Amino acid sequence: MQVLENDILVHRYFGKKVNQFSSSNKITYLDRAFSPSPISGNRTFSLDTLSMEYSSNGLGDFRAAAIEVRNEFGTALDLRYQTHRIFKGKKKLLDLPASFASEEEVETLEIDLYDQLTDVTVTLSYSVFEEANFLARSVVIQTGRYPSTLETALSFMLDFPHQDFAIHSLTGRYGYEKEWTVTPITKGKYSIGSIRGASSHSRTPFLALASKDVTEDYGEVYSAHLVYSGNFTGFVETTALETCRWGMGLNDWGFCWKLEAHQSFQTPEALLSYTDRGLTGMTQTSHAFLQKHLVRSPFANKPRPILINNWEATYFHFTEEKILSLAREAQQAGIELFVLDDGWFGKRNNDESSLGDWYVNKEKLPNGLNGLAEAINDLGMEFGLWFEPEMISVDSELYRKHPDWAIHIKGREHIYSREQLVLDLSKKEVCDYLIDSITRVLQSANITYVKWDMNRNITSISEGQANATKHEFYHRYILGLYRILDTLTQAFPHVLFESCAGGGGRNDLGMLYYMPQAWASDNTDAIGRLSIQEGTSLIYPIASMGAHVSAVPNHQVGRITPFSTRGNVAMLGNLGYELDLTALSDSKKKEVASQTALYKSIRQTVQFGNIYRLQQTENTKAYTYVNKDKSQAVFTFVKILAQPEAPLVQVRLKGLEERALYHCPQLDASFYGDELMNIGLTMPHIQKDFFSVQYIFNKI
Ligand code: GLA
Repeated sequence: MQVLENDILVHRYFGKKVNQFSSSNKITYLDRAFSPSPISGNRTFSLDTLSMEYSSNGLGDFRAAAIEVRNEFGTALDLRYQTHRIFKGKKKLLDLPASFASEEEVETLEIDLYDQLTDVTVTLSYSVFEEANFLARSVVIQTGRYPSTLETALSFMLDFPHQDFAIHSLTGRYGYEKEWTVTPITKGKYSIGSIRGASSHSRTPFLALASKDVTEDYGEVYSAHLVYSGNFTGFVETTALETCRWGMGLNDWGFCWKLEAHQSFQTPEALLSYTDRGLTGMTQTSHAFLQKHLVRSPFANKPRPILINNWEATYFHFTEEKILSLAREAQQAGIELFVLDDGWFGKRNNDESSLGDWYVNKEKLPNGLNGLAEAINDLGMEFGLWFEPEMISVDSELYRKHPDWAIHIKGREHIYSREQLVLDLSKKEVCDYLIDSITRVLQSANITYVKWDMNRNITSISEGQANATKHEFYHRYILGLYRILDTLTQAFPHVLFESCAGGGGRNDLGMLYYMPQAWASDNTDAIGRLSIQEGTSLIYPIASMGAHVSAVPNHQVGRITPFSTRGNVAMLGNLGYELDLTALSDSKKKEVASQTALYKSIRQTVQFGNIYRLQQTENTKAYTYVNKDKSQAVFTFVKILAQPEAPLVQVRLKGLEERALYHCPQLDASFYGDELMNIGLTMPHIQKDFFSVQYIFNKI
């Protein structure tokens, strides 16, 4: 960036590192029709045609605004450079999750921009993680002597001098999250976002701009994540002069934040990265960075346990004996953690009651959680529990006591989703109640894992019903949620937390900061999972991606897939089981046991290795996961549908050591790395739908 003579801060370049900058991309001033100038007599200087660093509308820049502050002078800000600071390390963001690092790993630049008329100061913060190749950006807006209302506050904007990109985003819906979507750049504006109160199943706070000819291995990719779990926006806007503006931040729909005189507002953080190593480069850089600098949990680098979850095995209908019989089978099969899902509390026998009543249902569990946890611990397994803390059922003790804690509009009927309402987390007392009641449960038994669910989106916000104005509500809700998560995850560092929102309905970096795992989707069908897991692992670490083997016909789509394929696909993530093990035949039980034994031997590679996507087609998917010292590779190939006259598929692996010899027990053969990477492996020609193989290569 550069401070011009009139103290306007313009953007000069963002991309591949250059050793020295001598202004080769000279700023060229031209008299452009209909581009106004703030300097009388100078018709060539216009905020509309310059690359700006952070700008508002109203004074000549007609592109999407990064900031709007409403006060008696209107909403425009004439931001001029005032001062800057550079320091080692990085400050914490007030009340928000954000990246972190030691003083040696990160250096921060803060720039103060100031608008004299409105007395508003805008501080732009840039933290450079040089080794990890990431840049963290955020903004603090501070009022001076005038009370104001913040109407727009992006976490970053970035102007590019060209439009030579394709836009990569993650779209989808419930049961079909994180579909990797590539959109050509268009004239106009491409935007994604959410106004659901959660980042949502259908959009992810992530956007990448890649060269149009990008491949897995070549081409430039700029990527941006927003570390936030609520309403957000992300856009790419092209201009008539063939430049483009990129931005992300809080969604300004329904957003107005009141600032008294001398108050400030902190935006969420955006994480930007650049690579010229193509899409694989983006994925690997993102995994490494998030794992090291964003996942705060003590579990960040610990191998994750193989779990059994009783949801699809029993739904709400279980007894202690049923749970224990499942646990015994699981233990026999080498499973390490038992997760008791929905239905253990209040009078919860279906999804119409009891959310909010976080005390054990003694009819189902006569020995309480403690009795159950002890029995499961005695088997040598850990015990985990499901909660959906942010919700309230009308049929609950909590609602009868505090009907006003449910978000609602006075005088209107409730709007239900899964028969439940959302608690008003903008109220301190509601958050305190949740902290207390969950603490009580976690202290009542040896619970070492929590699945934190959230199964509906927010409606029915009204003025004044919350401890917030209507327009502050959504952000205050998220701040309340983050306070709860901060308190509980710090109070229970030995608990492994997994986030969930009907699957991946809030699978974002705000949640990942507190919870090192997420349940990727309620869709447990191995074939449906392929695209969900591919999109999720495009940016999020594999260790964070929960993936379960479930029963057939699959409960969501009715598909019947081979057990081996269900295992192979689940082993592309953090392996778990979600089916009634007691109903399996002895031979299937043995298969489960051999899958878990095998997974334990590849777990480090899968969860913490480098992922390579290999020659993907609509009908075939292939991956290699390679551990850090390249001594092990896990190769997985899935062919969705059998075809007549099927072409032979030969897959070339990636990421191995060329001169190393690898043995593959499944093929009972050994190959050098260069052979596997240059010549490749011929896939078996099997005429069956949903066929897959998994080959492990161990360096000899
Ligand atoms: C959500 C979750 C499921 C399960 C149910 C329980 O849908 O995504 O995994 O926990 O809730 O009600």
